[in-house]
Amino acid sequence: MELQDKIAPSVLSADFARLGEEVAEVERAGADMIHFDVMDGHFVPNLSIGIPVLESLRKVTRLPLDAHLMIENPERYVEVFVKTGANSVSVHAEVCTDIPAMAKRLHDLGARASVGINPETDVERVLPFAAHLDMILIMSVHPGFGGQEFIPEALEKLRAVRRELDRRALKVDIEIDGGVKLDNIAEVKAAGANVFVSGSGIFGQDDYRKVVKEMRDLIAHAPVKA
Ligand code: DX5
Ligand code: ZN
Repeated sequence: MELQDKIAPSVLSADFARLGEEVAEVERAGADMIHFDVMDGHFVPNLSIGIPVLESLRKVTRLPLDAHLMIENPERYVEVFVKTGANSVSVHAEVCTDIPAMAKRLHDLGARASVGINPETDVERVLPFAAHLDMILIMSVHPGFGGQEFIPEALEKLRAVRRELDRRALKVDIEIDGGVKLDNIAEVKAAGANVFVSGSGIFGQDDYRKVVKEMRDLIAHAPVKA
């Protein structure tokens, strides 16, 4: 089942003093969506950005905004994120009490529904609900900070999720988030991901157009399955 490959720069690693320009630059560079990390200091040991920043970014880009809510009580906040302009919303399985209800809520609001799992969370926390979802997010670092090393065990999770989605003929995106860079993106694609979040791997480079193009070439030439 053919899913589109998408490159999603994470603005967590952008220069926040020039955030609008940074987003415009990755849009010109050929990015497919903008990954927007929200942290609450409870679900993860850090704070980041929220609604006012999303509202400002909505005005400067046509790209889909992909909100990644690393927050407790996500049901309290999804509506405001969608109404502010998020096109897809990921909530975490670890703190989402009713995944089908959350997915329905997001669909009713007009957004794509996604559920994420942390490195220590089993894929079985999300797979039973796959038919309700547009995307499953596999964390390949412990959430909370950009610039960490990719955790290799995530590859096995990607394979397990892709296998199960294929077996059930479900057209669900698999997003990989954390430590994705030029040196591992082909392996990540081969393992089953088709949405590639990259923060420091893109914003840490001087030439965004060059890195996005190189990522796309590596994805296109990745082995079919690993
Ligand atoms: C981590 C965030 C990631 C992060 C990725 O908590 O969810 O989206 O920004 O950054 P890199 O690509 O630098 O690991
Ligand atoms: Zn993220």
